[in-house]
Amino acid sequence: MKPLYLLGLMAGLSLQSIAAEPPSPLLDDKPAFIASLIEKMTLDEKIGQLRLISIGGDMPRERILGELAAGRIGGTFNTVTRGDNRPMQEAALRSRLHIPIFFAYDVVHGHRTIFPIGLGLASSWDLEAIATSGRVQAIEASADGLDMTFAPMVDISRDPRWGRTSEGFGEDPYLVSQIARTMVQAYQGKSPAAADSVTASVKHFALYGAVEGGRDYNVVDMSPMRMHQDFLPPYRAAIDAGAGGVMVALNSINGVPASANTWLLQDLLRRDWGFKGVALSDHGAISELIRHGVAKDGREAARLAIKAGIDMSMADSLYLQELPGLVNSGEVGVGEIDAAVREVLGVKYDMGLFHDPFRRIGSAKDDPADVNAESRLHRKAAREVARQSLVLLENNDRTLPLAKRGTIALVGPLADSPIDMMGSWSAAGVAKQSVTLRQGMLDALGSKAELSYARGANITDDKRMVDYLNFLNWDNPEVVQDPRSPTDMIAEAVAVAERADVIVAAVGESRGMSHEASSRTSLQIPESQQALLRALKKTGKPLVLVLMNGRPLDLNWAKANADAILETWFSGTEGGHAIADVLFGDYNPSGKLPISIPRSVGQIPTYYNHLRVGRPYIEGKPGNYTSQYFEEQTGPLYPFGYGLSYSQFELSGLQLSSPTMARNGELDVSVTLKNAGPRDGATTVQLYLRDEVASVIRPVKELKAFRKVALKAGEAREIRFRLSENDLAFVNAQLQRVAEPGEFEVQIGLDSEQVERASFTLQ
Ligand code: NOJ
Repeated sequence: MKPLYLLGLMAGLSLQSIAAEPPSPLLDDKPAFIASLIEKMTLDEKIGQLRLISIGGDMPRERILGELAAGRIGGTFNTVTRGDNRPMQEAALRSRLHIPIFFAYDVVHGHRTIFPIGLGLASSWDLEAIATSGRVQAIEASADGLDMTFAPMVDISRDPRWGRTSEGFGEDPYLVSQIARTMVQAYQGKSPAAADSVTASVKHFALYGAVEGGRDYNVVDMSPMRMHQDFLPPYRAAIDAGAGGVMVALNSINGVPASANTWLLQDLLRRDWGFKGVALSDHGAISELIRHGVAKDGREAARLAIKAGIDMSMADSLYLQELPGLVNSGEVGVGEIDAAVREVLGVKYDMGLFHDPFRRIGSAKDDPADVNAESRLHRKAAREVARQSLVLLENNDRTLPLAKRGTIALVGPLADSPIDMMGSWSAAGVAKQSVTLRQGMLDALGSKAELSYARGANITDDKRMVDYLNFLNWDNPEVVQDPRSPTDMIAEAVAVAERADVIVAAVGESRGMSHEASSRTSLQIPESQQALLRALKKTGKPLVLVLMNGRPLDLNWAKANADAILETWFSGTEGGHAIADVLFGDYNPSGKLPISIPRSVGQIPTYYNHLRVGRPYIEGKPGNYTSQYFEEQTGPLYPFGYGLSYSQFELSGLQLSSPTMARNGELDVSVTLKNAGPRDGATTVQLYLRDEVASVIRPVKELKAFRKVALKAGEAREIRFRLSENDLAFVNAQLQRVAEPGEFEVQIGLDSEQVERASFTLQ
């Protein structure tokens, strides 16, 4: 039996009126409904479903409408209004079998309202705040007719040279997994079929963050143990949380591109993990199999990809061109095509599109008059989340918070740059709607104090870099150079600083510097800005650095010279207000680093949970014949989990409920957290475990639990964690998850280095 909207269509009813009708009985039996649809489909119609196409380039609007009506497209991406999507859905419904398409987009850390970038969200260590950001993204994206987001991006990254470090949630498998689960649940809401949900397509499967040398799109060569222990858990968490889609990574894994990797997509993803959704290629990844050198031509590339398990090919015409011939020759079985089609139809079914193809597009009369209307933004939520994402790295002599009086000099190329506030992948965000730091500080100060401003420097004076960053936007360049000479700009900034009581310098990277294809060899703040900082330092005025960047930067000079450092990443639409809230003490900073900040680029990879070695460097002992770099201090400049508050938080009285844990047993860990400082505030208590002896080498420590706690000034509270055997388990040499008997050390701290310790034995 046909869905009612199809019967209605045939009877000449308008699509909008049909959409409101209740579903038919067969429609409520997903397997039967999809099987009966596949039975009716021609090979060409099936292949059409496997294509995920973007408007633009060789697919202008008119052409895409024709292709949709011919049943040659399964889904589209990159259109973001109901008005744009409606005619496309109508065209798809005019195809012979009237199969709806879905609409996807990169809603990664915001849709119309932009939240902090992934690293910023992770810095909150607050799953509720992160869920808020995900829910708002889903509400805004679905209200624009979108059904799927290419998110969350959960690639663990330990090499900040990689530009996409900004998009992810940092270096730690446990923290990133928790966030992965939270984001999927937030995007998909009560059900992916709900009108205000979008289907999550977790990416980039797999191990994209481990590309060699941080060079984007490069190779990954990794032991299976490391994969399973460290890099795969976040994808697994997203899938266990019900992500409807998986986007397959552009990198290769141990010699086989992910897009042609049967082990990855069949054995691991579907067989071992039980994934039931749709696997999408990344942009053009199937034709890239030729350049990887595993396919001699498009035909072979299409064959490898479909056999490996790529259900939908993104922005790629090879499935359309090659699959008919491959099926006719018997190289690809109809069953293999059907398996992919089943997943595509399945995800559309789960999105509720067969019940109502206009579920998220709605009817034209309800379209917003202005898609960018202020009323469509969620500024309050964005400000609250952004405040939590800011990490106070230094605060000498209580330089911060600043008093709202006197004269404050605000300088730096990022102090008043609306587009950079949004960070990369800012979806449908509009730069002029984002609050810059300058605006945020003006709003906070009103007439109470004077804010004087000078740009002071360009992001960089390196023309080659500027040209690279503006590559895709010649007409509307993102990095706009101030034509004045560096000397004049610095002189102006110094003059402004000299008249002020304190300097706030907003420096770091432009958003494009921490983006796809923006790998760097250096973690330095560009020289133009460093020269500005050196000149400001010479004024002798207190110097507050507000960093905006999408990766850990080299902060040695900053640490040695600044009076306070606030890491703000790219903090989104309400970033300027959020940063001002912290600078003036209207919000007590509570963020913690989700990624280590190395001392130098040569130290990379720097991550806290590294494996133990036979000759470890031991603090305070000679370094000779130990595993370290002899000309630099060992360990990160700022460790994972680190971040200050305007209060002082203290931990004491670590206790275990028992010196032993029985098999399948549990053990309680308790500690007292006290806010010993002068202000109310919040911090994150972190629990790490160290497995003392095991059948394989174990990390020096691993995060196993955390809790963000708000305490009033002077308040103390007992914090309890419950550990179970599962928390002690790891992946052994046979790739089995096991917990081995023996001694474990519990470490509790407010960062990964300063910890209290207690031990217990697993029996
Ligand atoms: C390529 C990127 O790698 C991926 O993250 C993104 O989702 C797609 N392009 C679509 O824009």
